[in-house]
Amino acid sequence: MFALHLGRLGLQQSAVRSFSLSNPLRQWNKLQVQSKQIIRQSGSNSNIGRWYNRFAPLCRNHSRLLTSDALMTVRSTTTKASSNVAKSLVGDIPSYARKIVGGWLIICSGMVVGAVVLGGVTRLTESGLSMTDWNLIKGMKPPRSNEEWEAEFKKYQEYPEFKYLHHEMTLEEFKWIFYMEYSHRMWGRAIGLVFALPAMVFWNRGWLSKAMKPRVIIYGSLILFQGLLGWYMVKSGLEEPKTEDVPRVSQYRLASHLGSALLLYTLMLWSGLTHLMPTQNVPAIASKSLPLLRKSAHFALAMIFTTALSGAFVAGLDAGLLYNSYPKMADKWIPDDILALSPTWRNFFENPTTVQFDHRLLGTTTATIVGLLWFYAKRVPLHPRARMAINCMCAMAGIQVTLGICTLLYYVPTKLAASHQSGSVALLTMAIWFLNELKRIPK
Ligand code: HEM
Repeated sequence: MFALHLGRLGLQQSAVRSFSLSNPLRQWNKLQVQSKQIIRQSGSNSNIGRWYNRFAPLCRNHSRLLTSDALMTVRSTTTKASSNVAKSLVGDIPSYARKIVGGWLIICSGMVVGAVVLGGVTRLTESGLSMTDWNLIKGMKPPRSNEEWEAEFKKYQEYPEFKYLHHEMTLEEFKWIFYMEYSHRMWGRAIGLVFALPAMVFWNRGWLSKAMKPRVIIYGSLILFQGLLGWYMVKSGLEEPKTEDVPRVSQYRLASHLGSALLLYTLMLWSGLTHLMPTQNVPAIASKSLPLLRKSAHFALAMIFTTALSGAFVAGLDAGLLYNSYPKMADKWIPDDILALSPTWRNFFENPTTVQFDHRLLGTTTATIVGLLWFYAKRVPLHPRARMAINCMCAMAGIQVTLGICTLLYYVPTKLAASHQSGSVALLTMAIWFLNELKRIPK
């Protein structure tokens, strides 16, 4: 019908034919311009002019209908294409099973966040070395009687943390730090159970796709590895300190423990979102800027991850207790002792000054990159959910930098430092969410 009107108006047949569904709005505008040109040439009282005046409103309505039809067609192709993206992970499992598996993965990833936060508070309250042995089954039973508590406290007294730091600690105070570490460890066991039991059921029922099965094995192994790594880290804090009086866990092991938790979280959240989120109704016309946006979002995610790891080095070396000024470090942009250790590479991991300097630099660079990403994303037509994700990501990057600076300026108070640590997980979450949304837009 629309083509008929245009034909009557004498518009170029090729233009009518080229009224493709790929960009209906632009095509309509182009046709309007062309029709006006023809009228200008032949006069509004000419036959064509009269036809135009009569049919233009009709054409516009048809164009609207056609446009929405076109968009719907594009949407359904999009949905098809997007579901192809998600299909490898989700497979052909029924939709109710997909939702259950997705929900389970999101719950597990949420529990990993809980473990990260609990672990951070345990470290900040100096509770992490209160349990001096590790046993998967026996370790579940805390001391109950007074004798059992006394025995546990005695064991703790043999280790450097009590000797050098907590030598005035009472049994009541010990119970408190013990329960902190105990709850962190029990939380880890709970993650194992909440993950493993449903995994077996879902596997049995065929609710896990072919691509999902090896991933489930990887997630399970990472959870187990996380427990072992945690104990390996604690062990380093129980050893007699070599160079100084303050016993603390190895910053390398702390960074590995945090890094592997964040990796597990990233993977689980990604799979969970892929299972749960409905596909986007974004026109395939999206934009040429999309590939660059995708690459930049990947880069931002990698930067957030790297900054978080460097933060673990700051925490492990208590480097937040030095140079408590911002932006300069003791009135200097580059402090004097930045390369005090030899060989040079050691400074990046073992010199608190360098480690703090790097973390500041990485933190502010990461936030700037997220800001630029936000600006760039404005040019790309995105689904409202993706828009919301990038907005949240940008706001969170600002909050995270502010929290980091405040943590530093106020000499690492527990509440601020714990919020800063949780903030890094929140920022990572927004980045994963945004990338997941971008993945759903067909290339
Ligand atoms: C995107 C930006 C940032 C991210 C993702 C980030 C992430 C982290 C993480 C994961 C930790 C380790 C926390 C722990 O294990 O307990 C940390 C520690 C720390 N960060 Fe950041 N950070 C960022 C920016 C900054 C900035 C700009 C500053 C200050 C200028 C800063 C100052 C600190 C300090 C002082 C600590 C040590 C806190 C402690 O001992 O618990 N951070 N950061």
